[in-house]
Amino acid sequence: MDTVVLSLGGSILVRDEDNSQYIQDIAEMLVEASGTTRIFIVTGGGRIARYYIREGRALGAPESYLDEMGIEVTRLNARLLIAALGEHSNHTPPKDYKDAVLAAKHNRIVVMGGVSPGITTDAVSSILAERVRASRVVNATSVDGVYTADPVKEPSAERIPRMTYEGLIALVGAAPRKAGPNIVFDAAGASVLARARIPLYVVDGGDLANLRFALEGKAFEGTSVG
Ligand code: UTP
Repeated sequence: MDTVVLSLGGSILVRDEDNSQYIQDIAEMLVEASGTTRIFIVTGGGRIARYYIREGRALGAPESYLDEMGIEVTRLNARLLIAALGEHSNHTPPKDYKDAVLAAKHNRIVVMGGVSPGITTDAVSSILAERVRASRVVNATSVDGVYTADPVKEPSAERIPRMTYEGLIALVGAAPRKAGPNIVFDAAGASVLARARIPLYVVDGGDLANLRFALEGKAFEGTSVG
C-alpha cells in the first residue's frame, strides 16, 4: 500500500473563528483516502505555538525551552484532529518516529506533532517520510503553493508550479527561521527530502478535493518539488 506523509500547517488547524467544521471535513476526507493509502499526519503549532514562544521569550526562557513549548502545542493540535478521527486513528500522538511506526501497525492513519527541539514539523514530516519510505510528502498550508516572493506582501509574486529541492532551499534558505507565510516549507525538511528523493507537493489545505488529489498522487493545483 502507498504511504504518504501530510504536513498539516498550524495555520490550517487553528483559525480565529470556530474551525471544528473544517476539522470534521478533513477528517472525513482522510478516512476515505486511507482506504487506499497509509497516511501519517504531522500537525504544526500555528498561532497558539507562536503565542507561547513569544511570551516565553519575553520572560527570558532559553530557545530550546521555547521549542519544547512549541512541541507541546503541535501535540495538542494533533489531538484536535485525533478527536475528529475517532477510532480511525491512534489516540495519543507518538513522541518519536519509532512510536509512529509502531502506531501504524494498528492504525491506517497516524497523527503526531513535533519530536525534538531545534526543528519544525516540516522537518519532522520529512524525516518520518524517509523512515516509513513514503511515496510523497504533502504540505497543506494557507497558500496554494510556493511563490516567487511572499504573495501577501508582493502582489506581483507568481506561483511556481514545479521546482527542484535546491530551488526551494535557495528560495526559503535565506529567510530567518521564523513562522511566516513566506516560508512555506523549511530548508531543513527540504534537504532531507532531497537526499531521500521523496517528492514534496505544496497545496492549499482549505481545498480538500485538491488536497486529496495530492495525497493520492493524482494531478493537483499547487507546487511540485522534486
Ligand atoms: P511548527 O512546525 O508549527 O513551526 O512548530 P513553524 O514553522 O514555526 O510554524 P507554522 O508552520 O507557521 O505553524 C512550532 C514550533 O515548535 C517547535 C519550534 O520552535 C517551532 O517553531 N518545534 C516543533 C520543535 O522545536 N521541534 C519539533 O519537532 C516541532
